Amino acid sequence: MSRLDGKSALITGGGNGIGRAAALRFAGEGARVVVADYNPEFAEKVAGEITDTGGSAVAAAGDVSDEASVDAMVKTAVDAFGAIDVLMNSAGGGSTKDGPVTELELDEFWRTIRVDLFGTLLCCRRVIPEMLKSGGGSIINIASLRAVIGTHGADAYTASKGGVLAMTRAMAMQWARDGIRANVMAPGVVLTERVAAFIKEDNPIYQKSLLGPSDPEDVANLALYLASDESRKVTGAVMRLDGGASIY
Ligand SMILES: NC(=O)c1ccc[n+]([C@@H]2O[C@H](COP(=O)([O-])OP(=O)(O)OC[C@H]3O[C@@H](n4cnc5c(N)ncnc54)[C@H](O)[C@@H]3O)[C@@H](O)[C@H]2O)c1
Repeated sequence: MSRLDGKSALITGGGNGIGRAAALRFAGEGARVVVADYNPEFAEKVAGEITDTGGSAVAAAGDVSDEASVDAMVKTAVDAFGAIDVLMNSAGGGSTKDGPVTELELDEFWRTIRVDLFGTLLCCRRVIPEMLKSGGGSIINIASLRAVIGTHGADAYTASKGGVLAMTRAMAMQWARDGIRANVMAPGVVLTERVAAFIKEDNPIYQKSLLGPSDPEDVANLALYLASDESRKVTGAVMRLDGGASIY
């Protein structure tokens, strides 16, 4: 018996980084996976990696910040697998246009709010009714350590991830009695290709990480726990995965 046997999972941002690692990990544990990504080639490639190794996956191209696109992703998932038991919102991420409130590019504020926060809201808004129909599910959102401890230099991103964190706890309250759990992961530095390209070892979060930065697979392992019934009594949790940075 694998840990996600019988479950289907929709993973946004599944074409790269943390989302890709989770898609492969979930499929390896028996889940049927919808790999949703803005970049259709990335989505197809990851879905192909899963099916080539005997797993079950479909790709869905789309933008999480666009309502019609989210509708289409969810339809793809329901048409393919009948239900969505796990929603993992991994689409998003900060950029070098961010900074302190006095310096950040204002467009970057709205971009990160639109993708990371509004995109997470849209996907939850569309998937929750599906989960209610099938008797429940697990929602896994991604905030950031920046939303939990004081950091500097990425205030737009920090604000959007603070919103994701608070919204996830509100959803956990709202739907606990319906069997829907909602939890949020708060990673520190995770060496995905995107982040490895701009984060430097002198970054304070990097330096505070007593165990060193994480790999995408480390986050996928935590997500696997949250997706599985092993975490059936866990909801509204903010799970730090920061190599000890927040206690330093
Ligand atoms: N890597 C880190 O250090 C780190 C730390 C804390 C939190 N996070 C969060 O984890 C999540 C994943 O980060 P990552 O490092 O794996 O990023 P990544 O860039 O490696 O992967 C993100 C994926 O999301 C897709 N995507 C981007 N915008 C999209 C949109 N509007 N609609 C659909 N898909 C979209 C991209 O095409 C890409 O495939 C993000 O929310 C990020 O903020 C990352």
